[in-house]
Parts: sequence; structure tokens; C-alpha cells
Amino acid sequence: MKKLILIPLLLLAVTAHASPASDAALDSYRKQGAEAFDAAAGKQLWNRPNPTQEDGSKRSCTDCHGSNLSLPGKHLRTGKHIEPMNPSVTPSRLADEKKIEKWFKRNCKWTFGRECTPQEKGHLILFIQQQNS
Ligand code: HEC
Repeated sequence: MKKLILIPLLLLAVTAHASPASDAALDSYRKQGAEAFDAAAGKQLWNRPNPTQEDGSKRSCTDCHGSNLSLPGKHLRTGKHIEPMNPSVTPSRLADEKKIEKWFKRNCKWTFGRECTPQEKGHLILFIQQQNS
């Protein structure tokens, strides 16, 4: 009997930090044809150095946000402080679908040299969300 009560509670704990905006974003990626999302694939995209530059230098999401999402980042060019990406540290993260899409567009172009696919964006959102666990 006890186990039956515990399971829904555990499920609640795991999904507690998923914001309505990030859920809406994931739904829209699925409608655009994306399949299952995977936080490990998101982590790889986040940390991957991308040879997008003619001079051979590489760019990655960590250039500005760092690889520890619970810590603040620093803009590579302007030196501007960037609040941590972990939504449990910075509650405004992944809370506004328009903001998510605006920055995905800008940052994917800068980092990967192209826009991210819906599949990649879903992996990345899951990875950012799972910083909570
Ligand atoms: C050149 C610096 C830079 C790089 C590289 C960069 N970002 Fe960002 N990113 C920013 C800035 C600046 C903001 C907006 C300021 C803020 O929200 O603190 C931002 C905001 C975001 C947001 C909005 C989060 C929210 O809801 O508040 C997401 C998502 C994001 N970045 C993802 C990425 C991903 C994924 C990559 C790699 C593909 C990446 N960023 C690479 C500078 C960068």
C-alpha cells in the first residue's frame, strides 16, 4: 500500500521544476516533428566545441554560460555578467517561451553557425531543466 502512494509523489518531485513555458516549447518541438528528448544529448550539444569560424577557432555554449549551470556566466565579448541557467537557482529561466526562442535563435546562430533544430532545442531544454536534480 505504501509503495502505491510513494510512486506518484516521486513523479511529482521529478517534474516539479518543469515550467509551463518549457513544457509548451517541448510540445511545439514535437509538433514540428521532433522525437524523444534526451538530457545527455543536450549536455553534449551544450559542451561541444563547434568549428564555425574561418580562422579555425571554436565556439560553444559554455563560452558565455560556463559548463556548471548553477554558476553565473560571463559574456565572452562584452564581459557582461549572466545569471546562472539552472532554473532552481534563477527562477526566471525557461519561464517565458518567447524569451527561450529569441535566445535559442541568436545563440545557436552564433555558436553553431546555424539555427538549432526542434530536436536539438528539446535536448537542450531537458538538459537545462535537469540541473535541478
Ligand atoms: C556569446 C555569448 C553566449 C553564447 C555563446 C551562448 N549564449 Fe545563451 N545567452 C546569452 C545571453 C547574453 C543571454 C540573455 C541574457 C540572460 O538571459 O541572462 C542568453 C540566454 C539564453 C537562454 C534564455 C534562457 C532563459 O529562459 O532565460 C537560453 C535558453 C540560452 N541562452 C541557451 C544557449 C545555448 C543552448 C547556447 C549554445 C548553443 C548558448 N546559449 C550560447 C549569451 C550566450
